[in-house]
Amino acid sequence: MEFDPQRLAQARHLLVFTGAGVSAESGIPTFRDALSGLWEHFDPARLATPQAFREDPALVWGWYEWRRLKVLEAQPNPAHLAIAELARRVPRLTLVTQNVDDLHERAGSSEVLHLHGSLHTPKCFACNRPFNGQLPVPELPEQGASLEPPRCSGCNGKIRPGVVWFGEALPQQALKDAFKAADECDLLLSVGTSGLVQPAAQIPLRALHQGATLVHINPQPHTCSAPGEYSLVGPAGQILPQLLRQAFG
Ligand code: OAD
Repeated sequence: MEFDPQRLAQARHLLVFTGAGVSAESGIPTFRDALSGLWEHFDPARLATPQAFREDPALVWGWYEWRRLKVLEAQPNPAHLAIAELARRVPRLTLVTQNVDDLHERAGSSEVLHLHGSLHTPKCFACNRPFNGQLPVPELPEQGASLEPPRCSGCNGKIRPGVVWFGEALPQQALKDAFKAADECDLLLSVGTSGLVQPAAQIPLRALHQGATLVHINPQPHTCSAPGEYSLVGPAGQILPQLLRQAFG
């Protein structure tokens, strides 16, 4: 069965759940795509855990600065713009992202629930206070180049990126709001995610189980197992603007 775009036009509460694939067409690498995925080239255990930061803070800080600067150079793509436009077309839209970039906000989306934190909100590793200094905008460092982290003005602890690392809890309020939206929405668009990382991956399934329609948008086809589940195959930057045109003219 094909997904009928009129279903989008009739949605009362739309939940859009995004992963790294939504930013791929802006030139931001995903994590698990063959060849181009970050975890193909870098070991998450050496870069994305509190233990890794304790052992080599300059390596970890340098890698996240490289990623932050790549995002600063990037622009939102038609997928981010279509999602911002959708918020103006449906009575209610909740946007939940696993991404740590700010491309949804720069496309015009507001109240984005960032389940995995943000590259743009560094904080102290020791006392958790937000970093209130100015981060330099140096030349894009080489991938994998070390960079000493700045120090906290309160306790002189090392500043760490404001992202969620493996083994850390997700921001509780954002997760609670995301689950609530999953329980209440009538349509969920799951865009550009492999759906492999918990607990975020529960969100689309939770929506499906309470009776919402679930649409996967991804160049990789999704095997749909329930009557209300659909797969739209292609890059989000093409599929989302097309869906918007079909639903709203
Ligand atoms: P993944 O790299 O696991 O998955 C990216 C998905 O995007 C894949 O399913 C691709 O097929 C798809 N994709 C690639 N290009 C696309 C395009 N142009 N349009 C639409 N889809 C496209 O990334 P996530 O699912 O976001 O967590 O990964 C989840 C979490 O794992 C991340 O938030 C990160 C990572 O470890 C943390 O850092 C805590």
